[in-house]
Amino acid sequence: MSEKQLLPIRAFVKDKLEKDAKSWASQTAFPQAKLMHFERVINLCHRIAKSEDPTVNIEALEIAALLHDVTVYEEPLTEVRHSIGSAKLAFEFLLKEGFDEEMANLVKNIILAHGYHPYKESATIEEKVLHDADLLDHIGPASLAINYLAIKVLSGQKIEDVLQHFERNRKTIIDISKVLLTKTAKEMSEDRLKFTIEFFGLLEKENKGII
Ligand SMILES: [Fe+2]
Ligand SMILES: [Fe+2]
Repeated sequence: MSEKQLLPIRAFVKDKLEKDAKSWASQTAFPQAKLMHFERVINLCHRIAKSEDPTVNIEALEIAALLHDVTVYEEPLTEVRHSIGSAKLAFEFLLKEGFDEEMANLVKNIILAHGYHPYKESATIEEKVLHDADLLDHIGPASLAINYLAIKVLSGQKIEDVLQHFERNRKTIIDISKVLLTKTAKEMSEDRLKFTIEFFGLLEKENKGII
C-alpha cells in the first residue's frame, strides 16, 4: 500500500492514542512507543508473509498492523479486550474512509485474531501472520529496550524492579514462542529469545557489579 494511502490511518491512530493517553491512561502510556511498535509489526508482517505465502493480502495486513492496538489505552476503563475494541473501531473507521466492506471485514478479522490467546483452527494466513508478527515484536530487542527498560526507568523504577518484572514475565516471554503459528516466526523467535535471556542475565550481573 502506498505511503499516501496509509497516511490517514497513521494520523487516526496517532490522534486516538494521544487523546486516550491524556484522558485516562496511566502514566506508563507512551503513544510514541506504541506507534513504533506498529511500524515494526508492519515490517515483520512483510518478512513473515514473504516466506510463508507471497499471495497474502499484504495491504490488509499493513492496515491491520497500524490499527490492531488502537483501543489499547481504553481497555482498563471499558474492560473490553483491545483486540475486540480495536477490530470494531477499525471496521467503522475504514468504512468511513471509503474502503469497501470486504477489506474492512478482512482487517477486522485479522485484528480480532491477535493477542496471546488460543487461536481458532480456521485462522486465515493473514490472521496468522499478524498474530505472529505482533508476538515476535514483544520479544524483540526494540520492544525490550523501550517497554522493559526505557519506559519503566523513566517512570521512576529501578533496574532491580525491571529485573523483577522480567522474572515475573519470563515464563510468558518463553511461552510466546510456543504459541506462534507460522514456521517462519517460530524460527525467528529462537534468536530473539536467546538474545532476551542473555541480555537480562547480563543486565543482572552488571547491576550487581559482577561484570
Ligand atoms: Fe494487542
Ligand atoms: Fe500489538
